[in-house]
Amino acid sequence: MRPAQTGPEVESFYSLSDVTLDHRVCRGTSCFAAKQQNQERWRMAMSQWPPVYCLGKCYASPSSTETLDQPHVEVCSKEAIVLMGVVDQSMVDLASYRSHGGYEALETARQHTSHWVIEQVDRSNLRGRGGAGFPAGKKWMAVANQTILPKYVIANADEGDHGSYIDRFIIERVPHRLIEALAISAFAVGADKGYIYLRKEYPVAQSKLEIALSEVKSAGILGNFEIELVIGQGSYVCGEETSLLNSIEHRRPEVRARPPFPTESGLFHCPTLINNVETLSSIPWIILHGSEAYANLGFSKSRGTKAISLNSLFNRPGLYEVEFGIPVRTIVEEIGGGLRTGDIKALMIGGPIVGLLHPSEFDTLFGFEELRQVGGAIGHGGIVAFDSNTRMIDLLTHEFEFGAQESCGKCTPCRHGSRRIQNLLSQASKGQPLTSREESELRSILDALRRTSLCGHGTGLSVLAASVLEKFSEELQPCFM
Ligand SMILES: Cc1cc2nc3c(=O)[nH]c(=O)nc-3n(C[C@H](O)[C@H](O)[C@H](O)COP(=O)(O)O)c2cc1C
Ligand code: SF4
Repeated sequence: MRPAQTGPEVESFYSLSDVTLDHRVCRGTSCFAAKQQNQERWRMAMSQWPPVYCLGKCYASPSSTETLDQPHVEVCSKEAIVLMGVVDQSMVDLASYRSHGGYEALETARQHTSHWVIEQVDRSNLRGRGGAGFPAGKKWMAVANQTILPKYVIANADEGDHGSYIDRFIIERVPHRLIEALAISAFAVGADKGYIYLRKEYPVAQSKLEIALSEVKSAGILGNFEIELVIGQGSYVCGEETSLLNSIEHRRPEVRARPPFPTESGLFHCPTLINNVETLSSIPWIILHGSEAYANLGFSKSRGTKAISLNSLFNRPGLYEVEFGIPVRTIVEEIGGGLRTGDIKALMIGGPIVGLLHPSEFDTLFGFEELRQVGGAIGHGGIVAFDSNTRMIDLLTHEFEFGAQESCGKCTPCRHGSRRIQNLLSQASKGQPLTSREESELRSILDALRRTSLCGHGTGLSVLAASVLEKFSEELQPCFM
């Protein structure tokens, strides 16, 4: 294991280099949504520096590094795929993973050609679970088709989206499935080296992965394939794939312009496959059960299952595996059991850089395109509900404070504009309505963010703001003169 940074010019980018995580209180959006439950703790979160955004304990918000509660975990889909073993914690070490058929998918893959493996992934219609929903098979094919060597595979375990604790528990409870999947992906695309990029805020996942990696090394399961664990140092934007590449390379992790895409020129300018933890965790099941069995689950262009994580305001917060195609209302009312603090005001699905859902949109079906049609997204699958205690102006101010803090600084509208927007929103939230000049400044920065941002951080912030300004316009009216 090595930390992501070396040298002062790189170290200065990160907020958690040399910061221990003892007694840190979470400043993520789930804790913001639940701040009425423990105002003292939220005040502490707002006063600690540097801030720690999302500890992956949103089922017990407001939380801190000392919160030891475990979430409720349940499979609500026909098949348990990514949460198999996560529910009953039956596959934590190598022996138990193997006794449940672990590493058989890797064996099966090796008995076939790499072309066969990629075909299985492609035909399964698996789409990336890291946010963009890009078809996994197409990405694998793009890397396999490159002739330049060496090639790399990377598991993105940065899970920075507020409200999401999916990858955390997949890793903590079944670390070998991620390792097996990464080895299958390396076989398929022709890579001999892999990386797992894990956030520092997940120390239990780190120790589980370290143990699992040493177990596979001693057992000689991976052959020549080597996996290195890299620990992030506190930066949301490092979850963005090109920033993550720079971070592994010990460069300042600013986002890279694309093209070229990582599939062609990624880590050390070599072809690189980057997939999210949950995407990879579906692979062993697909190899063992067949692409058709996977594609038969779900609906429309969203096939298979998806893990979702519900925040603490729900009556039944927790981690659930669902099939695509169920109405959002089923998630809110049946799976989550509604809110324990009254009526639901809005829903954030997929993190802070996507649009919010208004309760009038809860009949939307849970699918990539379907949510996009109402200005939302699947994102990473973290679901944060807000009750009547949350004022929309405060939520926007909170997200732009986070956005400004986590900007990589490469684009001017994101570097300066998100802070300016935070200040304007903060002024309005304190009861000083924006003048028409200030309002037009706000809207023009949002427009610049949408049009000119190099990555989804800046564009996503503008999408979030646009959705709140439109869907909650009545409530926000007093914020403008
Ligand atoms: C600001 C930003 C943060 C991101 N953070 C993550 C993250 O924490 N984990 C993740 O898997 N993908 C994250 N992504 C998406 C990655 O860039 C990339 O699309 C993903 O890892 C690809 O894997 P997939 O195809 O399996 O989804 C982020 C994107 C942006 C723009
Ligand atoms: S939008 Fe923000 S985070 Fe993304 S590249 Fe530009 S400055 Fe960096």
